Amino acid sequence: MAESIPETLAGLELFSGASSYELTALAKLMELHSLGAGVVLGAQGEVGTRFWILLDGEVEVTTVSASTVTRLAVASRGAILGELAVLRSVPRNATLRTLSACRVVSGGSDALDFLLGIEPVRERIQDIAARRLAQDCKPIPVELKDGSGVLLRPLLPGDRTALVQAVRRLSAESLRRRFFTSAQPSEKLLDYLVDIDFVDHFAWVAIDAGDGSGLATARYVRTDDPLTAEVAFATTDENQGRGIGTVLLGAIGVTAQQAGVEHLVAHVLEDNSAMRAVFAKASGTTRRDEPGVLAVTLDPGDASVLIAPALRATIGSAVRDIVTAASVALAGHTKNH
Ligand SMILES: CC(C)(COP(=O)(O)OP(=O)(O)OC[C@H]1O[C@@H](n2cnc3c(N)ncnc32)[C@H](O)[C@@H]1OP(=O)(O)O)[C@@H](O)C(=O)NCCC(=O)NCCS
Repeated sequence: MAESIPETLAGLELFSGASSYELTALAKLMELHSLGAGVVLGAQGEVGTRFWILLDGEVEVTTVSASTVTRLAVASRGAILGELAVLRSVPRNATLRTLSACRVVSGGSDALDFLLGIEPVRERIQDIAARRLAQDCKPIPVELKDGSGVLLRPLLPGDRTALVQAVRRLSAESLRRRFFTSAQPSEKLLDYLVDIDFVDHFAWVAIDAGDGSGLATARYVRTDDPLTAEVAFATTDENQGRGIGTVLLGAIGVTAQQAGVEHLVAHVLEDNSAMRAVFAKASGTTRRDEPGVLAVTLDPGDASVLIAPALRATIGSAVRDIVTAASVALAGHTKNH
């Protein structure tokens, strides 16, 4: 006997924790479609009124900008697609096209509202939304003190290879200052550095405006106290001293403010004059943590003023979308069942 829609949904990771009652009610609001290859589910630019959950097959996600088509992802079984446009009532920013025969269930805002009322599912969708919004963030141009330009954008999971290459090229001294050991970081640590949810862990990367190569990263990770986050920075050796670390601290300050982080803390080796100099510009207060290590505490507002007001505003509006729009949009769409 063919599997029913609620049974199929129950087998997807997205719905783990949802009850059979909830999935039966959800299925009544959704339609099952069997599609061939090459079918466009949703087109970039159209106002989104439906979303899809892929039961099997593959769907290509592409975006067109200045007549260049970029493949953002190939979605497979269990993926939720097109939900951001429905959530935020904005035109779709990507085209979804089946790559193979697919079975999908589709629904409108009533189905999405119902789905977001299922707590564990809501949390997963919030996570997916933040990551997708980060991916959509347009690189922000920044002029450095020597007049040269770099671009800032959120660090994404897809940056892992470039990040590994940059870390491999760091000098032993920079590694020691960043990781407190001159040994190369483990694969597990490298995974962690790109496993960013943009809510509790946010990272910026500065890239070369010309060739797009990575120059520096800065991140914060919330501690057990959600009002406090630990920051860490690294600029490739050949780019240190250009002012990138200072700009990134400003960007981290703006982001932290948007995300409701009230205190930034850093652990810095006592002999790390460059990092201490950057933190001193943001009025960081210092205390000895353990021998050779200082704990620096910064106010995100003091960090944010390291960058010019116009840049602060640009970064602020870019990250507001990522760190808050997902949850605000979700909150606005949730009903009690
Ligand atoms: C610390 C670090 C991130 C700073 O990044 P950066 O892009 O070089 O930062 P900036 O260019 O904005 O600022 C560096 C500042 O340190 C100052 N500085 C550099 N070396 C210094 C030294 N030996 N003594 C005092 N100040 C120094 C620079 O003069 C500059 O200040 P300025 O802008 O007023 O001239 C970078 O040096 C780095 O990646 N180091 C290795 C990893 C690390 O230390 N990470 C921090 C762990 S929390």
